[in-house]
Amino acid sequence: MSSEEENPPALSPDMHFIGKKADIVKAGRVTKLVNGCRDVLVVYHQGELYAMDLRCYHAGGLLHNGDIEEFNGRPCIVCPWHKYKITLGEGEGLYQAVDNPTIRPLKIQWRSKGVKQRTHKVTEVSGDVYVTLNDSSEAIESDVYQTEKYRTASLDALPKHKPKT
Ligand code: FES
Repeated sequence: MSSEEENPPALSPDMHFIGKKADIVKAGRVTKLVNGCRDVLVVYHQGELYAMDLRCYHAGGLLHNGDIEEFNGRPCIVCPWHKYKITLGEGEGLYQAVDNPTIRPLKIQWRSKGVKQRTHKVTEVSGDVYVTLNDSSEAIESDVYQTEKYRTASLDALPKHKPKT
C-alpha cells in the first residue's frame, strides 16, 4: 500500500471534483468547466492523470480531440487543428529544430518553446479525481482562449484555422 493510500490528501476548497477515476480511465479524457471559469481537459495516459486548458494556445483548437504521442520520450497531446505538440505534464510547446542546416544528413531534434499551455494540478482521493487550477499570475498563451469570448463561442465562431486534410 502506498503512502498516498494510507494517508490520502485532504480535500481543500480549491480542489474541484472532475469525476470518478475509473470513469476517466475508461474514457481516456474528459472535459469540464472548472470553478465556473475555466474549461479543463483531463487526460489519462499510461497510468498518469494530467490536466490542462482545453483550448490550444495556438488558435483555440479543442485538444480533447487530439492524439497522444511521445516526442523525445515526452507524452504530448497533438492538437487536431495544426498538429502542435504540447507536453501533457508541463504544457510546453515542442518544435523540430535543425542544429546546423549545412550538415547533411540534417540532424533534427525536438526542442521546447517553453510553457505555452496552462496545466493544472490533479489529485486523486479515494477514487475521486480533483483539479486545482493553476492560478499563477504569470501569463500563459492558452489564457487567451479562456476568456468569455471563446468559452461561449460556438465552434463556428472560433478562428478559422482548420487542419489541412
Ligand atoms: S489551434 Fe492548435 S495547433 Fe493551431
